[in-house]
Amino acid sequence: MPLTQTREIAAASRLENVRYAIRDLACVADEVIAQGHKVLPLNVGDPNIFDFQTPPHIVEAAYKAMREGKNGYAPSPGIPEALEAIRGEAARKGISTLRDVFVTSGVSETVDICLAALVNPGEDVLTPKPDYPLYSAVLCKLGIGLNAYDLNEDDGWQPELADIERKITPHTRGIVLINPNNPTGSLCSRQMLEQIAELARRHNLLVFADEIYDKLILDCDAQGNATPHIAFASVAPDVPCVTFGGMSKNYLVPGWRIGWGIVSGDAAAVKAYTEGVHRLLRARLCANHPEQYAIKPALEGPQDHLIEVRRKLRSRRDLTQKWCESTPRVSCVSPRGAFYAFPRIDIPESDEVFVKELIRQKHVMVVHGSGFGQKPGTQHFRIVFLPDEQTLAKAYAGIAEFIRERYGNA
Ligand SMILES: Cc1ncc(COP(=O)(O)O)c(C=O)c1O
Repeated sequence: MPLTQTREIAAASRLENVRYAIRDLACVADEVIAQGHKVLPLNVGDPNIFDFQTPPHIVEAAYKAMREGKNGYAPSPGIPEALEAIRGEAARKGISTLRDVFVTSGVSETVDICLAALVNPGEDVLTPKPDYPLYSAVLCKLGIGLNAYDLNEDDGWQPELADIERKITPHTRGIVLINPNNPTGSLCSRQMLEQIAELARRHNLLVFADEIYDKLILDCDAQGNATPHIAFASVAPDVPCVTFGGMSKNYLVPGWRIGWGIVSGDAAAVKAYTEGVHRLLRARLCANHPEQYAIKPALEGPQDHLIEVRRKLRSRRDLTQKWCESTPRVSCVSPRGAFYAFPRIDIPESDEVFVKELIRQKHVMVVHGSGFGQKPGTQHFRIVFLPDEQTLAKAYAGIAEFIRERYGNA
């Protein structure tokens, strides 16, 4: 056999800007773990590694489906009973112009398919800055240049309308809205949703409303009832929209990989696009099959776990906010939904160095703001406040000590 010299197989150059800071930090944590330290993980949005348990009736439904042999391929759009349950959920969200629903392997796949079905080379989709990094990763994968609009920290991280308007070009096809937001924990006001709808109408944009955290609203009335979430599609029934939802966060099963898309808006306007989505759904065969049998029991069965989840999250959010307010060099817009806080830090070096040194010296893992995108000249870090109060208090004491030792109390 002739011996040939092995040459490197290069990865596609369009992947150069694909970053996933949340997982990229794992290498630094591995160093620290290898030295025998325990790392406090305030970096991953997985409730199941903390004190949150999947409702048993949901687990039972998936297990039963497996036992009953629902282990082959499912229909590409999803099994009928799950689709019916998602239609019911859309109605509960106030979406009156429902055109289509489909099930995917997590909202991650909804994002992948819905963006791929929309954009051509040379076109773009507006994404928030800071954003959940999957959006920019998928756009990079598709060879689409980023066009990010600012969220305004001075306005509770609301989208900056003037910036959106400035960035819309004849090549802009859609806009991503993450509400409740990751990484800021902010909620869009009804007025903001209406204003974005108006821009979408004027410029013929498709709106991607990522509402994966819609049942994790932390604002509540005097009786402790959660403030209802306002779905974009309910405010703008005529505007072409795909609402993203899923089981990972609201039903505490991120490892099952179950998400969905709800298409709404003017029927004629969304028809061709929806057909494009279904072409891609068929090409990837189907979403996870037995887990789809848990969608109906989840959406239509008891929701008691959510009361407990929100109670814990409120307490942990309050502790986090109090710490931010009492710690020199730190300030934070109080989170109103999901389980993330995005404090600003006033330090003389990059937030990436801050985060890496924090892991090395205090064994606390948070994610740097630059991993999500932020206004130039500002520094932030993202906290996942899922751990219990004791763990959070220990982590915050470590961060405060690190700030004092490294930068002094400004
Ligand atoms: C805003 C947002 N969208 C989508 C996802 C992906 O969720 P899934 O587990 O359903 O793929 C996440 C996960 O953290 C998220 O924060």
